[in-house]
Amino acid sequence: MIAEKTTQAFQWTYNENDQEFALHGSLRPQNAEELSGCISELEHSVANVSGKFYVNVRRLVRMNNVAFQAFACKILDLVHGRSDLNVHVTTSSVVGWATRKFAVLETMSDKITVSEYDSEFYPGQSFVEDSEFIHVLRTQTKLTWHHEKDLLRKHGLKPGMQVADICCGIGDFAVLMQKEFSPDRLVALDHSKSSLDYARQVAADFGIKGIDYVFGDAADMLLEDDQFDFVTCRHSLQVFDRPELILKELFRICKPGGRVYVSNEKNSHCLGEPRGESIQWTYNEVAKLWHHFDMDIEIGPKSRRLMLEGGFEDVTIGSFMVTSTDGDPQGFADVIASWKNLFAGKMASERGDDAAFVERFAKGFDDHIFAALHPKGYAGWPIWVASGRKPL
Ligand SMILES: C[S@@+](CC[C@H](N)C(=O)[O-])C[C@H]1O[C@@H](n2cnc3c(N)ncnc32)[C@H](O)[C@@H]1O
Repeated sequence: MIAEKTTQAFQWTYNENDQEFALHGSLRPQNAEELSGCISELEHSVANVSGKFYVNVRRLVRMNNVAFQAFACKILDLVHGRSDLNVHVTTSSVVGWATRKFAVLETMSDKITVSEYDSEFYPGQSFVEDSEFIHVLRTQTKLTWHHEKDLLRKHGLKPGMQVADICCGIGDFAVLMQKEFSPDRLVALDHSKSSLDYARQVAADFGIKGIDYVFGDAADMLLEDDQFDFVTCRHSLQVFDRPELILKELFRICKPGGRVYVSNEKNSHCLGEPRGESIQWTYNEVAKLWHHFDMDIEIGPKSRRLMLEGGFEDVTIGSFMVTSTDGDPQGFADVIASWKNLFAGKMASERGDDAAFVERFAKGFDDHIFAALHPKGYAGWPIWVASGRKPL
């Protein structure tokens, strides 16, 4: 049974099956009395359960100290004198200080546990949230844009649309779309604070207006249903351990009749000559390395199936190859160098790879760079693009 209550700015839900009391919205009461209805519902819900009871505040977008105090005291009160009850609080990094504040409860009672939803949910997130990753994204988009500019048109992006770029990273793709397609509205969402800071700074430095950069979880967005004509999500289903969850959200925020556009890689298909064998070996290992961190850098050709299973119609898929002969071979080499840095650096060391492996692994990237810069060489990085329409 699910009970739902609402006041103007926030709502609460009690799910009896999951023994979970969840708060949503903006919780900023002037005084504790404003919360009395919600708190008494919480008490009432707990009275009828034993075992683990969940208090979920991860869908709050704001919470002030009055609310924190009221809920923290009530949670302590609930476990007091109840040997049959434990409370688990789930926070989110959306309300930045919530985890730190609620974590104090763990020190006050061994019957209370606290965890941050996001950090448990994204095994590979620490790599892509790292500010080092900014360099990777910057160099990549430089090379892919001249392919994608035309592809976006073919997949249905037109000037004046309501557009969202989900998992926008450092926001350069949003900036390029803004300049090329002048959307009526452009929302760019990501879960990485360092990337969003960077994106906002770039927009401010270059006087780019009209992009609404928002922090959020792509698998559980606070954006409303049926809002956007065109939703993009580039290279991101592959960094998430449950891509179908993000796709479901992309579908939800897209207007009926609108389109969702995703791009993904299949890294093991990166290629180059000369030194093809070493290159091939390394990129097969890249796929295994990502898999170790629950990410699938091989998603590219699977995008069609994911979209069809996600309820999209008129699904179109194609691929393009970024190559060392597209323009400046050094640009291509820079992308590979940024991958080498991250994959054969932090990621390999975190997996515990030994020195001999790392040396061979790194060599494949060096060989890919060698192929890209060789006067008679050729190096490639394939990308799959798929889009689908949300049924009317
Ligand atoms: C490989 S990057 C791609 C960024 C950008 N779309 C691009 O193509 O340059 C993946 C991005 O997805 C973001 N991301 C991954 N999971 C997310 C989630 N659940 N919610 C929001 N952002 C997420 C990461 O923070 C990162 O910026």
